[in-house]
Amino acid sequence: MRVLFIGDIVGREAAAWMAERLPGLRHEHAADLVIANAENMAFDPNRGDGQGQFGMTLPDVERLFAAGVDVVTSGNHAWDTNPAQTAAVHAHPRVLRPVNMPAHYPGKGIVTVEVAAAPVTVVNLATPDAIADALPPRQAWPALDLPGTVIVDLHAESMIKKHVVANGLDGAVAAVLGTHTHEPSLHTYILPGGTGFVPEVGMTGPLGGGQGMPGAGYRATWEAGAWQPLPELAPGPLILGAVVLEIVAGETRSITRIS
Ligand SMILES: [Fe+2]
Ligand SMILES: [Fe+2]
Repeated sequence: MRVLFIGDIVGREAAAWMAERLPGLRHEHAADLVIANAENMAFDPNRGDGQGQFGMTLPDVERLFAAGVDVVTSGNHAWDTNPAQTAAVHAHPRVLRPVNMPAHYPGKGIVTVEVAAAPVTVVNLATPDAIADALPPRQAWPALDLPGTVIVDLHAESMIKKHVVANGLDGAVAAVLGTHTHEPSLHTYILPGGTGFVPEVGMTGPLGGGQGMPGAGYRATWEAGAWQPLPELAPGPLILGAVVLEIVAGETRSITRIS
């Protein structure tokens, strides 16, 4: 089985660009399953709904599904649109938010899909450094029912924690794919138990700054003696953050970065 995993999509322009390329990418890489993290897809500093600038809506994810995405994952921005939009997007059976959240958070963190008549389970997991309310992953994990080949979107900030989770799940899952920082990591790993591990897949969004936001905003943040830039979209050009995995009998055989 070949899996195409697309890292955090930042903004609707990047989403449309990726969607246009997706049929070609699916064909070129013979992908049997496409997973995309869309938590920043609705990123628009001028959105003006008073509900924050990130998140995703049902029409957003429906565009991805129509283009060939099979499962949408997310993270700390899963609930950033207004309550009605948040409820609608998380009612979709193939939209995930991290599984290890307290029950009052809308959404679900696991979905099982059929790929070539065999079950594949996608799990969205977060560490508390990415989402303060996330429950400890180690505590949440044993309670999960995970049929077939298991692929994890690990939404985490700390590289140490990403390595702890990936090595902890080695042999129990086919792959652990890191999201959230938007800055792709160089090394990819096939761990001793056969788990493929990418610490950070990287964003699908605009360059011209960092993490999809402009360098000038980071500079202004420095000048203000602060840390958190105002939300703005970088000018581009757009890049694809994605990997293709070859998985056989629940073990990863190869990981290829694509751009
Ligand atoms: Fe993100
Ligand atoms: Fe995130």
